[in-house]
Amino acid sequence: LSLRIENAWADTYQFYLFENFWCPSIHFQAVNSFKKEFQAKDSDIVVASFPKSGTIWLKALTFAIVNRQRFSSLEDHPLLSSNPHELVPFFEFIFGADDIHGQILHLSNMAEPRIFGTHTPFPSLPESIKESNCKIVYICRNPFDNFVSAWNYFNKIKPTIVSELTLEEAFELYCNGVMEYGPWWSHMLGYWEESIAKPDKVLFLKYDDLKEDINFHVKSVAKFLGCPFTEEEENNGVVESIIKLCSFEKMKDLAVNKSGMYGRGGIEKKNFFRKGENGDWVNYFSPSMTEKLSKIVEEKLSGSGLSFKMCS
Ligand code: A3P
Repeated sequence: LSLRIENAWADTYQFYLFENFWCPSIHFQAVNSFKKEFQAKDSDIVVASFPKSGTIWLKALTFAIVNRQRFSSLEDHPLLSSNPHELVPFFEFIFGADDIHGQILHLSNMAEPRIFGTHTPFPSLPESIKESNCKIVYICRNPFDNFVSAWNYFNKIKPTIVSELTLEEAFELYCNGVMEYGPWWSHMLGYWEESIAKPDKVLFLKYDDLKEDINFHVKSVAKFLGCPFTEEEENNGVVESIIKLCSFEKMKDLAVNKSGMYGRGGIEKKNFFRKGENGDWVNYFSPSMTEKLSKIVEEKLSGSGLSFKMCS
């Protein structure tokens, strides 16, 4: 099933309903090759996310946590010169490259642990990711702020990828689950259920919680990935320096000052950073939108144990 939303999404940006999720047509071939061809290693780390949930933040944190001994000097840290999406590449981009065989060869030569990103829903991940001992760190966000972030982002990157949507049009689509890699509820629940069944395999994080207590979450990511901070590291301020390096202000500043494009669609790097706050949705939602989305959140997540503080 494919969907093209008239007057909304540009021709190049159709969605295919593939394995119960809305796969952007530009990623369709890549998602299929990724599923068929990727061979996971036990040491791999996958940063999985629903789009516009803080992916870039979690990629930066994971990279900095895992490589903290390799790059102990913060003066020439790779995060100062490279975008986190370049340091932690998306499977959907690797497998969408023209030179796919070269990319696969490159994968086998990458330094371990290899860290990748993906927006692919859990059920559609390659079997080797599910069956190996590799780890998945997942991030999502309350649907209110997630929607506002997505709406702003997709409008900002026009006309390269999508043409303009009104807030109301986009909201209707979001409520019906139509967004890249959506429906958002199935995406979240897929990883949520796996994190409950296999807590050593999937660490489930919420952007909202990271904003509230980043120190706690940086330590829990490190512990989950098998590289907990030592007492000495904690006393020497290593946790704080990672938090600072990956902070919204620092990363936005770097992206703005070292501007450039990312990916095939040519997205300006600075567009990955907007407000970096929770609660901005109140500036966009009418009372009826709030009521509608609250009901959907309640209905879709009911009985799962997954909830978002501001939505309850
Ligand atoms: P807002 O649009 O609400 O500002 P993704 O990386 O999945 O595309 O998510 C983008 C959202 O994460 C944007 O939210 C962006 O501003 C925010 N973000 C990016 N880097 C961040 C950081 N270092 N700390 C907190 N939020 C960040």
